[in-house]
Amino acid sequence: MNLLVTGGAGYIGSVVTAQLLAEGHEVVVLDDLSTGHADAVPEGARLVRGSLREAAEAVLAEGGFDAVLHFAAKSLVGESVARPALYWDANLGESLALFEAMRRTGVAKIVFSSTAAAYGDPERTPIPEDAPPRPTSPYGATKLAIDGVLTAYARLHGLGAVSLRYFNVAGAHGRFGERHAVETHLIPNVLAAALGRHEAVRIFGADYPTPDGTCVRDYVHVVDLGRAHLLALDACAPGAHVVYNLGSGGGHSVGEVIDVCREVTGLPIPAVIEERRPGDPAILVASSAAIARDLGWKAERGLNEMVADAWGFARR
Ligand code: UFG
Repeated sequence: MNLLVTGGAGYIGSVVTAQLLAEGHEVVVLDDLSTGHADAVPEGARLVRGSLREAAEAVLAEGGFDAVLHFAAKSLVGESVARPALYWDANLGESLALFEAMRRTGVAKIVFSSTAAAYGDPERTPIPEDAPPRPTSPYGATKLAIDGVLTAYARLHGLGAVSLRYFNVAGAHGRFGERHAVETHLIPNVLAAALGRHEAVRIFGADYPTPDGTCVRDYVHVVDLGRAHLLALDACAPGAHVVYNLGSGGGHSVGEVIDVCREVTGLPIPAVIEERRPGDPAILVASSAAIARDLGWKAERGLNEMVADAWGFARR
């Protein structure tokens, strides 16, 4: 297929682009490089630098595109709380420009990066797709709103759309991995401490109602996550918008993650307990039963492999 990948210079977008190229697809990456890196775009993909508002329609008008994979977004929960207008504009506003460009140029399939943050603090776990979406941050609210727009476009314009709600994505795919200017995620921060870039890992709260008192999350390897996008592309059906969770179905606490990092790196990695980080739910674990049932997808790589691959990437 001929594919447009928005945000293909970012962490997940670059990994999926590499997987798409390996499967023989043609890929154009559209990225404004506000958080992505030009050198993260896999060889074989053409990079167009620009925002979706400025450039999506011109690129799609070149013709021949079969589908879009839409990763481009602002994705820091804390920043979204401090600057909601920025998030509504960058996430919902830019997405609307993309969807309109698709409609006008007749591109009728899209796979969208949604998020577990759409659910907020869940009533029960594992979280199924029909759990009430009650985002607790503007970030989650913008992604949920985009899901709503996709539902409307499917109904009104016959778009075929799949939204994938990522839980905690981790790991790397060779030279493609997580490289954020502001790193908030647990595993890269633990590995940065292992490399001596921080004095210690900060554990944000050890008094949660969980077995060891630290938060439990559902970690999924970025390579497994990427595979789900390839299946979702094939599953886009005209006039339908389907939402799938992507997780492993099991959880690991912050304490367990740090222990696995110590085991994989063979380093002691000092840790200190700090105050809770505002807005962190105690437990977030996905039910990924729907995508297993419909598309036969299942996470295959465990936490050790995620940490080992992230460690390989961090040491490059
Ligand atoms: N944590 C630490 N120390 C750190 C970093 C994180 O203790 O240095 C803790 C957090 O408090 C949390 C857990 O590790 O309990 C995981 O935190 P991450 O920041 O790695 O991931 P989140 O679960 O907060 O965020 C993920 C996605 C977001 C998404 C959110 C949905 O990365 O994009 O899930 O709630 F919005």
